[in-house]
Amino acid sequence: MKAAVLREVNKPLEIEDVQHGDPGPREVLVRTVAAGVCHSDLHFQNGAYPYALPVVLGHESAGVVEAVGDMVHYVKPGDRVITCLSAFCGHCEHCLTGHMSLCQAPELQRAPGEPPRLAKNGEAINQFLNLSSFAEYMLVHEHAIAKIREDMPLDRAALIGCGVTTGVGAVIHTAKVEPGSMVAVIGCGGVGLAAVNGAAIAGAVRVIAIDQVPSKLELARTFGATDLVNAAEVDPVQAVRELTGGGVHHAFEAIGLKVTAQQAFKMVGRGGTATIIGMIPVGTMVEIHGPELLAEKKLQGSNMGSNRFRVDMPRFVDFYLQGKLHLDEMISGRIGLADVNDAFAQLQTGEVARNVILFE
Ligand SMILES: NC(=O)c1ccc[n+]([C@@H]2O[C@H](COP(=O)([O-])OP(=O)(O)OC[C@H]3O[C@@H](n4cnc5c(N)ncnc54)[C@H](O)[C@@H]3O)[C@@H](O)[C@H]2O)c1
Ligand SMILES: [Zn+2]
Ligand SMILES: [Zn+2]
Repeated sequence: MKAAVLREVNKPLEIEDVQHGDPGPREVLVRTVAAGVCHSDLHFQNGAYPYALPVVLGHESAGVVEAVGDMVHYVKPGDRVITCLSAFCGHCEHCLTGHMSLCQAPELQRAPGEPPRLAKNGEAINQFLNLSSFAEYMLVHEHAIAKIREDMPLDRAALIGCGVTTGVGAVIHTAKVEPGSMVAVIGCGGVGLAAVNGAAIAGAVRVIAIDQVPSKLELARTFGATDLVNAAEVDPVQAVRELTGGGVHHAFEAIGLKVTAQQAFKMVGRGGTATIIGMIPVGTMVEIHGPELLAEKKLQGSNMGSNRFRVDMPRFVDFYLQGKLHLDEMISGRIGLADVNDAFAQLQTGEVARNVILFE
């Protein structure tokens, strides 16, 4: 099968012929139909986050079950699924206390000594975050997929695989935004737009979208933003304080920078919470002004929207089909696998919401 392989940090992905194994116990072979290009893929491509190489990147996808291994009862060939990197074991402390997105059980991957899921002529290729979606097939643990209804278009379903689950989940699960809250979202890429949309669904009375690219701010309005702040023109902290008379209840950072994480903390009012979604590079420290903690301000991280994805993803599909989630507007381009390096270049400009790779 064709797959996009990262062999060296900061080098283009190479489209190579890679082999996948047969599904073993509890494994599912999925034919990839669509895969979104998320900024997190870029963080691993450029080394901001290290990963064992060579690796097939990609982690935001949807497809059709091709074959299942022993003991798989959840899906059968022909079922439509969304993948999720938050594969869960179901019996660790995190899983049993309802925090499945924090599960790190090693059993979701094949054990050392077993044949690898991905290989090229005998050379093992690493699987990325339990998935490796930039490939025509994915061989995954059955706990890395959610089954969805048949009438959901799979190019838009792919977006739910990471960006939507992350952005909406940060709002409704991690931060538990109450109806009537005032919310600010810094960064209007796929993840930030999903957070804006999630805030609107949660009943936020004000949703302030912040970006540096005017077209992204306009797009944010479609997703439910009530106010727009161009951070290239004004100080976003001051702008949010003025718009809200002292600060928002919830700020979300959806970029992955020290400066914007600090802005998120500064723009929440007394008792408010800043939730950092962006992947801040390894080694970077985030600073806050200590006395602001006396105002009971909180700073927290959010991983994959604190999801329970087998419950969440079918609900997000329903939201889309009811017109509440704006996935059509999130797709900036439909591209081929060979265009993946161009999609990475576009991500750096901030101009795109999501490029989606189509495999058919
Ligand atoms: N926590 C998680 O589980 C999780 C999951 C998925 C993605 N992420 C991370 O979320 C972040 C966003 O991902 P994405 O795919 O939406 O990225 P993206 O590149 O599509 O969007 C980033 C947006 O931020 C804007 N921006 C850049 N610098 C800015 C600044 N200084 N001020 C205001 N706006 C600015 C850009 O114009 C762009 O619109 C990334 O760091 C990604 O790795 C985290
Ligand atoms: Zn992602
Ligand atoms: Zn677990």
